[in-house]
Amino acid sequence: MTHAATPPLNQILLGDSIELMKTLPSGSVDLIITSPPYNLKNSTGNGMKDGRGGKWSNAALLNGYATYDDAMPHEAYVEWQRAALTEMLRLIPEDGAIFYNHKWRVQAGLLQDRHDIVDGFPVRQIIIWRRKGGINFNAGYFLPTFEVIYMIAKPKFRLAPKANRFGDVWEFNQESKNLHPAPFPKPLVDRIISSTTANLVLDPFMGSGTTAVSAIDNGRNYLGIEISPEYVELANARVQAFTESTTKQQSLRPTGQLF
Ligand SMILES: C[S@@+](CC[C@H](N)C(=O)[O-])C[C@H]1O[C@@H](n2cnc3c(N)ncnc32)[C@H](O)[C@@H]1O
Repeated sequence: MTHAATPPLNQILLGDSIELMKTLPSGSVDLIITSPPYNLKNSTGNGMKDGRGGKWSNAALLNGYATYDDAMPHEAYVEWQRAALTEMLRLIPEDGAIFYNHKWRVQAGLLQDRHDIVDGFPVRQIIIWRRKGGINFNAGYFLPTFEVIYMIAKPKFRLAPKANRFGDVWEFNQESKNLHPAPFPKPLVDRIISSTTANLVLDPFMGSGTTAVSAIDNGRNYLGIEISPEYVELANARVQAFTESTTKQQSLRPTGQLF
């Protein structure tokens, strides 16, 4: 595969995450923020996999993603995610980092953490993202209310000045006003981006474009990859609406006034 001299900037590429990452030069993106599909429809429970609802009847993800069914055999899923992380690690430089969001689940009565995906990658810290409430009520265990963000960092990665004050437990509500079934809350991505000095931020599972909007808002460049044409359209529309609204706000500011 031939490498582009420099990565494309401020675009959302339609296609497969791993295939498209392979076209980008090594060390060419400073920061990766991503939330892959969680393989939720491969479930030992009685909820999502039957497609009828049950305890998951209110979950937006019940209908799955637009073009991806999220139901791989577990081993194949782990292999896929490890291959994606391998490409991500190649793309960041010696002072780069990957913020990889995932969810721990109980499967067949046992905790399924995600060590099989991240083992061997340079995980420096696990950030707990505490969400409001949860949906999988089960008499066998307490209601899960958090997701994790693995901070996978190359040796020279450093946070922006004062960012370490945020600690490692972050509380952000789920995003509800979004047509995508599993979007990041923008404040969560804002927290990550503003905690770094990265110039170019990649999200290889871009979904509705939250990482792109946050990158723009924080004065950084972005690059996204998404397999569903519907979500690429949604993400581009969000980016455009956001850019237009900020341009409008700027033009409304009285001249000479400092903000
Ligand atoms: C959890 S969602 C990401 C949501 C995103 N963080 C947001 O804020 O909207 C995962 C996304 O990965 C996409 N996806 C699934 N398989 C993919 C693949 N092979 N390559 C690229 N994207 C893929 C799905 O369509 C889905 O939009």
